Amino acid sequence: MAKEYNLKPSPQSMDASSAFGESMKINRRQFIKYGFNAATGVLAASLGVLGFASILLPPSGGSGGDLAVMYWAKGREDEAWYGGSHLQPMKKSDFVAEAASSNTGTAGAAGVWNGVPVVVNYVSHSQYAGTPTSNGKARFQFMDGYDETGKYVGNFLDMSDVDERLMPSDDIVMSFGRCTHLCCIPGWQLVANNFTDDTWTPGGGDDGGTKMFCICHSSRFDPTALELNTNRNRSNGATFTYAGIRRSGGPAPVGLPIIPVTINGDIIEGIPDYLDWLTYCD
Ligand code: FES
Repeated sequence: MAKEYNLKPSPQSMDASSAFGESMKINRRQFIKYGFNAATGVLAASLGVLGFASILLPPSGGSGGDLAVMYWAKGREDEAWYGGSHLQPMKKSDFVAEAASSNTGTAGAAGVWNGVPVVVNYVSHSQYAGTPTSNGKARFQFMDGYDETGKYVGNFLDMSDVDERLMPSDDIVMSFGRCTHLCCIPGWQLVANNFTDDTWTPGGGDDGGTKMFCICHSSRFDPTALELNTNRNRSNGATFTYAGIRRSGGPAPVGLPIIPVTINGDIIEGIPDYLDWLTYCD
């Protein structure tokens, strides 16, 4: 029997019926259907049969697309806190309100931007950065990064000092939603386990919760731990250094690249200047 994972209900929908039945469980096949394939469905709808590499064109290079990030809650309209906003533009105020009910001061949501899957995280960094880490309130950590061989790559601030747009904008960070293991789509509190609990510990390790979790082979990523790392384009072998969030555990070799954002009014918009960082699944 396929292994099943508990869906993590949002505080607002504890009694909501699940799209997967009353059990509030999801197995790997369902996850892939509602996660991986759902996102590629968007791609197919918007871009026909073009390959994945084709969707990495900046909006200005093709259709003049929208830079706004859209919520993606297909199949989870009744479970996700943003379920009623499927394919609506993401608003910073939504995340701030959701984080207020969190032990850690965090909120996250799946989205689609410029035709690619993303995960957006809000961390109450501005509120808690000056408080003791022992209080369990999450804040961003600007860390040294090491590649999969253990070689030092650099500190996140080395790159953000050159381009400050890489810093979280209004306490929001957006990650590319493709696992660096085999390109499934990691989720934010899509399943309930020790890694996705509403708890936080400093250090970018694999303890505490508040991790993004990839159900395909259980890789974990810490959206509060920002670092530099390296990856490679699978098509041409070219390696690149990127700013990203840390891989904290599992078979994924490195963390996920950041897609910098800006807040336009209340709308979260992506900045399409580092699309080469998204090519490791080509
Ligand atoms: S694809 Fe994510 S852990 Fe394997």
